[in-house]
Amino acid sequence: MKRNPSKLELSSEDMKTYGYQVVDAIVEHFDSQKNKLPVAMGSREEMDSLFLEEAPEKGTSPDKVIDFVLEKVMTNSTDMSHPKSYSFVPGPSNYVSVMADTLATGFNIFSGGWVASPAAAELEIITIQWLLKIFGFPQKKGGGIFTSGGSMANLTAITTARKVKCGEDFSKAVIYLSDQAHSSNIKAIQVLGFKKEQIRIIPTDIEFKFAINKLKNCIAKDRLEGLHPFCLIATSGTTNTGTVDQLSDLAKICKKEDIWFHIDGAYGAAAILSPKGKQLMKGIEKADSLTVDPHKWFFQPYEMGCLLVRNHKHLSHTFTEKPEYLRDIEGNTSEINFYDHGIQLTRRFRALKFYMSIKTFGLQEFRNAISYNIDLAEEVESILRKSGKWEVVFPATLAVINFRYNPIGKKYSQKKLDEINQYISEKVVSSRKALLVTTILHSQIVLRMCLINPRTTLDDVKETLALCEGFAQDYPDN
Ligand SMILES: Cc1ncc(COP(=O)(O)O)c(C=O)c1O
Repeated sequence: MKRNPSKLELSSEDMKTYGYQVVDAIVEHFDSQKNKLPVAMGSREEMDSLFLEEAPEKGTSPDKVIDFVLEKVMTNSTDMSHPKSYSFVPGPSNYVSVMADTLATGFNIFSGGWVASPAAAELEIITIQWLLKIFGFPQKKGGGIFTSGGSMANLTAITTARKVKCGEDFSKAVIYLSDQAHSSNIKAIQVLGFKKEQIRIIPTDIEFKFAINKLKNCIAKDRLEGLHPFCLIATSGTTNTGTVDQLSDLAKICKKEDIWFHIDGAYGAAAILSPKGKQLMKGIEKADSLTVDPHKWFFQPYEMGCLLVRNHKHLSHTFTEKPEYLRDIEGNTSEINFYDHGIQLTRRFRALKFYMSIKTFGLQEFRNAISYNIDLAEEVESILRKSGKWEVVFPATLAVINFRYNPIGKKYSQKKLDEINQYISEKVVSSRKALLVTTILHSQIVLRMCLINPRTTLDDVKETLALCEGFAQDYPDN
């Protein structure tokens, strides 16, 4: 390949060859994914030995660089889209959105201001409208913004809540969240400069939902002490168990107390597209703001989060700045500058992948995929219950299931059960055949499977359980 280095260019032919190599590699990745091991492992020393070098003054042939990357970088990265990647929140992704991202990056579209890219802003408005409708938010008054992920959406929400409810002085403000709320919320609260004394972590009940009575007591006590309860964060689909808080009850409390009601639906909100999920999401439409995370269960590649708000003016009220160098691109009031609705000025064109994948597959295919995921987790639950070897610690909820090895007839101590289950997870991960890590529920170490990949089959799960059982048999003391 020939390069024109001083312009950072390749010839047209070379660009095509390069691009075809990339597309071929991506397609091969999708096609052969199932036959590969999902887990990559490597120590810092091993990675240093592969990659550590000074920034080269002289270039290398593009072929060589791309071959090296495919061989060494991609193979040393865990595949979160793999059907046997069950941990954290997998990222199933989809090819159409991958190509959409490539287009957005290829054209390097600036998705900050209307004047710079009216079509990009319009597609963000349109796709946000689709989401507002899906979640029952007001279409005209509502609004939102795409972010890099759920963490940034939560940060954007809490910043907005603080501005709307506290103005400039938040010295007496108090925020409420449950002990199952995602850690990104605490991070956001800390980023915003709240002190520890302003954060109330409310315990959850046996089903991991907000303990409502404790919450009410806490709010009342804070008021008596002259503090200002200003925001409550509920979760629709906790990361640990998929639990949805009592959204309608919490909405009522927030309304009565004049508290901003934020719902973190980063994990589970997308389930509203399925009939079972819709039941669980009752009350979601009452939130002041809602985090949705399309790079999870809306099957988008990283990075794509989203914040929806009931009143779009709350975003512009919070984030609008008017520097002189942006005067000329302000546009009129119907033309949204997304840099005025969130933290980022220069933003990639995230809406494109959402738009193209929904246009290509249709919402119905998304509904089917999500329903499949929820049903699969329920089938897995019933297999576990019938096995005699596994104990279901928390039933399948929004495609998450928590279980542990605890065979009938063996009387293991709690400590021993923790050790065996930790051992199983470590052995599975180091075999690289499945990504299955633990979490802790009610002080017990459990295995947690998150089944949001529509390409995961029941056979995949059965094979993984058989692998786990094999390791359990090998446990030194068993
Ligand atoms: C409930 C919940 N909220 C927020 C987040 C953070 O989202 P992200 O990783 O996209 O920043 C996660 C991630 O798993 C989550 O499960």
